Amino acid sequence: MATMRAVRVHEYGGPEVLKYEDAPRPEPGTGDVLVRVHAAGVNPVDWKVRAGMTRGFLNYKLPMIPGWDLSGVVEAAGAGATGWKKGDEVYSRPDISRDGAYAEYIAVKASELAHKPKTLDHAKASAIPLAALTAWQALFDAGGLAMGQTVLIHAAAGGVGTFAVQLAKWKGARVIGTASEGNHEFLKELGADELIDYNKVRFEDTVRDVDVVLDTMSGETRDRSWKVLKKGGILVSILGPPSSEEAAKHGVRGVGVFVQPNQKELEEIGVLVDSGKLKPIIEAVLPLEDARRAHEMNQTLHTRGKIVLQVA
Ligand SMILES: NC(=O)c1ccc[n+]([C@@H]2O[C@H](COP(=O)([O-])OP(=O)(O)OC[C@H]3O[C@@H](n4cnc5c(N)ncnc54)[C@H](OP(=O)(O)O)[C@@H]3O)[C@@H](O)[C@H]2O)c1
Repeated sequence: MATMRAVRVHEYGGPEVLKYEDAPRPEPGTGDVLVRVHAAGVNPVDWKVRAGMTRGFLNYKLPMIPGWDLSGVVEAAGAGATGWKKGDEVYSRPDISRDGAYAEYIAVKASELAHKPKTLDHAKASAIPLAALTAWQALFDAGGLAMGQTVLIHAAAGGVGTFAVQLAKWKGARVIGTASEGNHEFLKELGADELIDYNKVRFEDTVRDVDVVLDTMSGETRDRSWKVLKKGGILVSILGPPSSEEAAKHGVRGVGVFVQPNQKELEEIGVLVDSGKLKPIIEAVLPLEDARRAHEMNQTLHTRGKIVLQVA
């Protein structure tokens, strides 16, 4: 059996359960493409899965490989996998119910791959798919954000937030973000019009008549967000469906979004990247064997943009 180096989880738990070791190299099934992973983006869902927080919703056969953000090169196409050939440079947010990208190889459905942006190296490209697709699907597909509207983006400095700020600006919206003060300058450079230091100011005291709220925080941040919306506005949460009673009480709508692989949207995102309108913000690039440290960093909840694991 062919093997590869990978980071695997044999039992749910803290960062120490991540084991860098030999694992079976995946075989591409029907409709799959085998991709040589060059870099894997790290996202909060990786450590939530590792810690067993998603059990019931996502059920894996252990040992499993986390990481659902990747950039790499096509190694081989399985039966019925069309559109890709050996050597193509690709990036993807693959199916989260399967083994992930903290590994030298991953089998991905052909329809979940898109062309890697040409202007970026693999490390930068791997920081894009999951967070940028989340921002796109939350702001545009669910929120219907349009030119001239106002959006409040919570955790604007985070993985999802940094893409949401840029995408909302590109759409022609007025962008308000919450972030600690040290992140304000760089967020202005990314396109935010107004920033609120959530440590000093209660955003609901200064923000009014917003068309769309992007809730990346849940809890009391979500509870306090309803009142900043104008009548008919929408709160889009990426942390579970919001209460329909609360939405009705405020005369607004609430919707939950769980990001889905989307080849067409990922291709469009790649075009924006290559035309200089969208860029990933990367706090650190670590070698794959430092996945444990990457999780410890991401779990502080104060990463600026993304952390990436370099695989090749
Ligand atoms: N439903 C989905 O499909 C989906 C997809 C992606 C992510 N998610 C979830 O969405 C959440 C955000 O993801 P992410 O990747 O953006 O996380 P992240 O990168 O870890 O977010 C870190 C950012 O949060 C900011 N932050 C922390 N506390 C804050 C507060 N009280 N108010 C405002 N900002 C605050 C920090 O900014 P400061 O350092 O300035 O405080 C930091 O920049 C996670 O829980 C993740 O699991 C869901």
